Amino acid sequence: MRNTGVLQPQVPFRIRDYDRGRFDGRLGDHHGYRGSYGNPTDVTKANVRNETRKLPQCIIIGVRKGGTRALLDFLEVHPGIKSAGREIHFFDTDENYNLGLDWYRSMMPPSSPGQITIEKTPKYFVSPRVPERIAKMNGSIKLILIVRDPLERSISDFAQLKKSGKGPREFEGAAINYTTGNVTSKFRPILYSLYYVHLRHWLKHFKLEQMLVLNSENFVKNPTNTLSQIETFLNLKHVLTREQFYFNETKGFYCLKEQTGLRGKKRKQAGCMGSFKGIEHPNISAVVSEKIRTFFRPFNEVFFKTIGEDFHWH
Ligand code: A3P
Repeated sequence: MRNTGVLQPQVPFRIRDYDRGRFDGRLGDHHGYRGSYGNPTDVTKANVRNETRKLPQCIIIGVRKGGTRALLDFLEVHPGIKSAGREIHFFDTDENYNLGLDWYRSMMPPSSPGQITIEKTPKYFVSPRVPERIAKMNGSIKLILIVRDPLERSISDFAQLKKSGKGPREFEGAAINYTTGNVTSKFRPILYSLYYVHLRHWLKHFKLEQMLVLNSENFVKNPTNTLSQIETFLNLKHVLTREQFYFNETKGFYCLKEQTGLRGKKRKQAGCMGSFKGIEHPNISAVVSEKIRTFFRPFNEVFFKTIGEDFHWH
């Protein structure tokens, strides 16, 4: 499926133009998180159950608005997985990174031997210093990247920023420079959708085989299929099945049923994502949509060539 050799694409843009190196601080969101935050002082319980806090063996590195929260919440149902819950922002925020790996470990949940600890911080994917930092911690770690049609992702990113009272009020005016007629690649919702620009930093430090690249649209339509891919990737038993989910017509998404046979936090996972997931998107004119799609096309092509798979975004 994968073609690791294609890394010298002929594309009509200078990749370096998009390398800002500076990204705004703690913009990753915690919206939709329905569990309790990790409690680093809760060591007694950890000891009682012969559990320890481990550094993650797998990280969901992005992308923001790709469905990362639903993915992590659904994965948490698996008895072989423990998740850090909230976004830790260890590798992308100097303030946290300087606290060291012991601090990072203390933010992880207690887990039994054999369980896999997973963290997700979508900001990692777009932060150029992060791949090297993660590789320094563990060069053979497994990475999961879930990507979404870049225009849809940009609009969703914008809609969330607006809902949080951040960012511009209007998408089209921010995404298109009406003096030049060009797409504003510095506009964060656009910049973060240039997947190849960010992926290339990761491929300097990790083999493509260490990364599982998933399609957000497939995950929304058929979550169990995506979860099954992850079970294979993590060498876990295949236990996540269609029976654990139901389709909520009002939300337009799959949600978790009450899980039987699970204890503690895992039992509390039933329900749909919070109000920050499945948010209303603004209408974009056909002309602007096409202009932005045309802008994204060469970036998408080189991204697909690199991962050896085509997600058919139009
Ligand atoms: P929208 O709000 O644009 O619909 P993230 O958690 O990475 O911020 O991603 C948010 C996106 O997750 C939502 O974007 C939604 O499309 C997607 N998603 C995927 N599966 C979902 C689910 N089962 N419930 C809610 N949202 C889901």
